[in-house]
Amino acid sequence: MKQLEERIREEGAILSDKVLKVDSFLNHQVDTELALATGKEFARVFAGERITKVLTIEASGIQFAMAAGIALGVPFVYAKKKKAITQSDKVYTAPVHSFTRGETYQVSVDQRFLGPEDRILIVDDFLATGAALVGLVDIVRESGAELVGVGAVIEKSFQEGRGLLEAKGVRIHSLARIVSMKPGEVHFASEEIY
Ligand code: G4P
Ligand code: NA
Ligand code: NA
Repeated sequence: MKQLEERIREEGAILSDKVLKVDSFLNHQVDTELALATGKEFARVFAGERITKVLTIEASGIQFAMAAGIALGVPFVYAKKKKAITQSDKVYTAPVHSFTRGETYQVSVDQRFLGPEDRILIVDDFLATGAALVGLVDIVRESGAELVGVGAVIEKSFQEGRGLLEAKGVRIHSLARIVSMKPGEVHFASEEIY
């Protein structure tokens, strides 16, 4: 997605060869127009898949799942990272290991909101190590719902996430695929000549 790649070039700050800071438009302050455009693009790519719901994980996946839900005309659900006191015991859960915090936490989705009748598109802001996304894939499969695919706003192709998801037979579509980066320099898959 050209508009997104340009924005990453203009405003993204590359903190190391692995971490991209995009908090001025993507995951702290959010450019609402850009977010809605990502939703339209996911809806276009996955058109004809009869998606019934979009699934993401709190917090920074929410705005993109909502945008995709709006474009597809379906609800979105976000997996919770902490158990709420109002939460029922009937939840699908999956362990997610956070490499940044060095701990494993349980993500959960109420069983009322996912089931065999559903066709699910998973959406998230980043596809990186894939830890969170693999957890969501496992939750969808446990629920008996059909997984249509995973849509990532930004993929860092040099990390393990894509390989892990492909090994699970998951269709992936990323709006911006970063093949390499270092401070002051970012390279997208779209510029590669094959
Ligand atoms: P993932 O590939 O399944 O997203 O999992 P991973 O464990 O690699 O990512 C851990 C967290 O770090 C995720 O947010 C993810 O969105 C975020 N992340 C990964 N790479 C980058 C990066 O280069 N830049 C930024 N800004 N974030 C990155 P999270 O822990 O789920 O938290 P939240 O921000 O969604 O609340
Ligand atoms: Na996220
Ligand atoms: Na995040």
